[in-house]
Amino acid sequence: MTQKHIPAWDIPTRLFHWLLVALIASAYLTYEFGDVTMTYHMWNGYAILTLCLYRLLWGLIGSNTARFSQFIKGPGAIIGYLKSARTATPQKFLGHNPAGALMVLVLLALIIGQGSMGLFTTDEILVEGPLVFLASSDWVDLAGSLHRIGFWVIMGFVALHVVAAFFYLFVKKENLIRPMVTGNKEAESVPAGETLQPRSPLLALICLAISAGVVWFAVNIGAYL
Ligand code: HEM
Repeated sequence: MTQKHIPAWDIPTRLFHWLLVALIASAYLTYEFGDVTMTYHMWNGYAILTLCLYRLLWGLIGSNTARFSQFIKGPGAIIGYLKSARTATPQKFLGHNPAGALMVLVLLALIIGQGSMGLFTTDEILVEGPLVFLASSDWVDLAGSLHRIGFWVIMGFVALHVVAAFFYLFVKKENLIRPMVTGNKEAESVPAGETLQPRSPLLALICLAISAGVVWFAVNIGAYL
């Protein structure tokens, strides 16, 4: 019997994605409507950094479709994919296609940059990021400006990312969104014989704990210096 649905995304990757979406929304809400000392916003930022650091580790040792070595491709592969996407027989991928993978990397880099700049940001009155004391005032000014602009740059790329997902859904008739929820892709959109090779969720929890430890240490480094 042929399988109709092929497992493509593991639970840790799906949880990462939707938690990241929720945390980015709450980063905005805690900035706009949080307390004056921005405690919630800062905790929210630490959570985002932890999650992204975790995703970097999972990209090294996680399940096959989560691994960077599986989906980071050069310009030739990206152009080749985009050309094939306009034909009747587009290239198929179990995980990210090469163009989607580029967007994933851009989003991750921007979000990590945004969170890191926040650590050096101050309003010079009530709010001070935990690493401001380490940096020169020029660097703190620059980090603050980048942190303020960065959110909108990220929103621009998120909009592109979401438009692309709906373009695939309505124009190319391929639903990429459902697999990010259920984990399964339609068999006909996946190369024959390929399937998810999941790594243990326990390993994912260990990666998460290590990431939380690194972020906690970075945020509290003042206590050790
Ligand atoms: C703040 C908003 C969002 C951010 C920062 C974001 C970021 C990301 C990242 C980093 C990935 C890679 C997942 C991984 O490999 O770990 C991804 C994948 C994906 N996202 Fe989002 N996302 C956002 C919102 C959305 C929304 C609202 C949708 C649905 C409408 C969506 C649909 C998808 C899909 C379908 C994939 C998998 C793409 C593929 O099959 O290659 N994302 N997203």
